[in-house]
Amino acid sequence: MQIKRIAVLGAGLMGHGIAQVAAQFAGYEVYLRDVEQRFLDRGIAMIKDSLERFRKKGVITEEQKSEILGKIHPTLDLELAVKQADLVIEAAPEEVELKKELFRKLDELAPPHTILASNTSSISITLLASQTKRPEKVCGMHFFNPPQLMKLVEIVKGQLTSDETVSVVQEVASKMGKETVIVKKDTPGFIVNRILIPALNEAIALLQEGVATKEDIDKAIRLGLNWPMGPLTLSDYVGNDTTLAVCDVLFKELGDPKYRPTYLLKLMVRAGLYGRKSGKGFYEWTSSGELKANS
Ligand code: CAA
Repeated sequence: MQIKRIAVLGAGLMGHGIAQVAAQFAGYEVYLRDVEQRFLDRGIAMIKDSLERFRKKGVITEEQKSEILGKIHPTLDLELAVKQADLVIEAAPEEVELKKELFRKLDELAPPHTILASNTSSISITLLASQTKRPEKVCGMHFFNPPQLMKLVEIVKGQLTSDETVSVVQEVASKMGKETVIVKKDTPGFIVNRILIPALNEAIALLQEGVATKEDIDKAIRLGLNWPMGPLTLSDYVGNDTTLAVCDVLFKELGDPKYRPTYLLKLMVRAGLYGRKSGKGFYEWTSSGELKANS
């Protein structure tokens, strides 16, 4: 099956980047859909900012920048976005009821041949597939933040996902310049988040217990384990709300107390301290997504 047109649902931190790599590296025509104009505007602004970084580095020219932008079609209309799509990549907020509803609608609106992939970090692919009459064409396609730079895509098989669906999605990811791993069983957190999220949660527990300052916890892991960002910075970067959502799923689905979210993480999210996306988390962030000095 040949993929020509892609729809990305959600223009947020992940969706804008996925739409960009689909247009920039694979040359696909991409419909980028969100539910409010301001979310679309913000997504397109983030794409422009990222393309400008690539231009400044000499990776693309001014002309290529315009060509790539010309391939991305922002819209509020779900039907328009998906009615001619061969592949839909859902990157909506990490809320199970919202995603279930979206998959029910997608099954009605997208042509029968269309593959429905989800960028969920933790929600069961089998559960999303069960909302459709095409579970064999539903899979996980999990990108990492920032999608423009991170090399990996986890391809997740639901209980009924066909091998053909996996191989088509694998080829698409490869055209986007990504490396893939196949998660053979639909399991909470897949591979990366099963390991990463407990580590972030544990860093927050150390801060809660007053064992060290946030700066020293981050420094210890940056220099001691060679991570590019310390865990508290990284949780801010992916969104503390996302860290909590994944942690909740790991705890509920795997039933092991070692995954229980730290109380401080819950408080951060209750207070709207999401990190980079809200401007404040463990650290302060500028509106263009940079870490503020001395925050
Ligand atoms: N588009 C294009 N270029 C970008 C960019 C973007 N969105 N973001 C950063 N860059 C560029 C910068 O312009 C900079 O370019 P130069 O080298 O020319 O200066 C370069 O990338 C490096 O950026 P910075 O100097 O700002 O910072 P950095 O060296 O720390 O790199 C980073 C940034 C690549 C994000 C790096 O810090 C990193 O790899 N961090 C860890 C990210 C990570 O672990 N992601 C996975 C999170 S888990 C997840 O996503 C899954 C989930 O479900 C929760």
